[in-house]
Amino acid sequence: MGKVLITGGAGFIGSHITDKLLDNNYQVIVLDNLSSGNLDNLQKHENLKFYNIDITKDDIETIFKTEKPDYVIHLAAQTSVAYSVLNSYEDAKMNILGSIKIIELSKKYSVKKFLTASSAAVYGIPKYLPIDENHPTEPISQYGLSKLTMEKYIRLSGIPYIIFRFSNAYGPRQRSSKESGVVAIFDKAMRNNQPINIYGDGNQIRDFIYVEDIASICVKAIKSDVMNETFNFSTNKGVTLNDLYNTMKAIYGYNQNANYLPERDGEIRDSILSNEKVLNIFNEIKTFDIKAGLTTLQEKFLCKNL
Ligand SMILES: NC(=O)c1ccc[n+]([C@@H]2O[C@H](COP(=O)([O-])OP(=O)(O)OC[C@H]3O[C@@H](n4cnc5c(N)ncnc54)[C@H](O)[C@@H]3O)[C@@H](O)[C@H]2O)c1
Repeated sequence: MGKVLITGGAGFIGSHITDKLLDNNYQVIVLDNLSSGNLDNLQKHENLKFYNIDITKDDIETIFKTEKPDYVIHLAAQTSVAYSVLNSYEDAKMNILGSIKIIELSKKYSVKKFLTASSAAVYGIPKYLPIDENHPTEPISQYGLSKLTMEKYIRLSGIPYIIFRFSNAYGPRQRSSKESGVVAIFDKAMRNNQPINIYGDGNQIRDFIYVEDIASICVKAIKSDVMNETFNFSTNKGVTLNDLYNTMKAIYGYNQNANYLPERDGEIRDSILSNEKVLNIFNEIKTFDIKAGLTTLQEKFLCKNL
């Protein structure tokens, strides 16, 4: 099927894409410095090779020269909005300069397709919902800006690309220490019967996408002839934090009431991404609805509670 080089492949989303690629008989080369990823996320497989590499510092060219990947999936990133606000230089070094390095090498070694993960953060405060791909891009965080800048470098580079802007991902192997991983945070607290804080009134809306759906669309995109497109990938369905909390309470049999704390600064209140474009271009896409996804998560008992 060909060889895929995946940066950040030992992380939450990357490890699920790696599994799906191996299931589809691809050879997979994972580049990861394990800063937030974990080797336990990766299966032992004859078609999987792992390099412990920091893409901002180490020699990546030798790997491109030796491995000659057909495809590149670039996921390695600094993923925290809060960190990006306080450490813009480090955020830009990783998410812009690190990405440029991978983009340049992908061009030099003529990869057939470059796929990457961007974010709903590129849109900024929604002017309408659901947000489609034509919505203005006016990020309100350095993370959103660095992802948007990466997107622009990709389009200018001339390499064949697909950019996915994911909504809030959840599922097995998500770390509960991450600010964006509200499902993983609730999951850990509910399993351990610990108290849960909700910031604001809990009526803020999010669009939660199950990580295995992300893995499926990425492999579909690698296999397809689709090129040079930017897609939202989401469920197009809004769920309030209170709905999420109550649904999980019922599934996990958790009895405590949430503590409501003041809203946090800088958070976008409501976000729903339209998935119309991706559904029109790729056939037969199914996404887990939130209840099915959460039930599967609870059954798998795999959330990484680090
Ligand atoms: N999780 C979400 O809801 C979400 C939503 C939209 C976009 N994204 C994007 O998807 C991608 C994957 O996110 P995730 O949630 O799986 O996060 P993650 O932190 O689990 O994965 C990132 C991976 O990159 C690795 N990494 C970080 N810096 C590196 C470096 N300098 N060199 C090599 N490897 C490095 C980490 O060790 C980790 O394995 C990121 O680009 C993120 O911005 C995630």
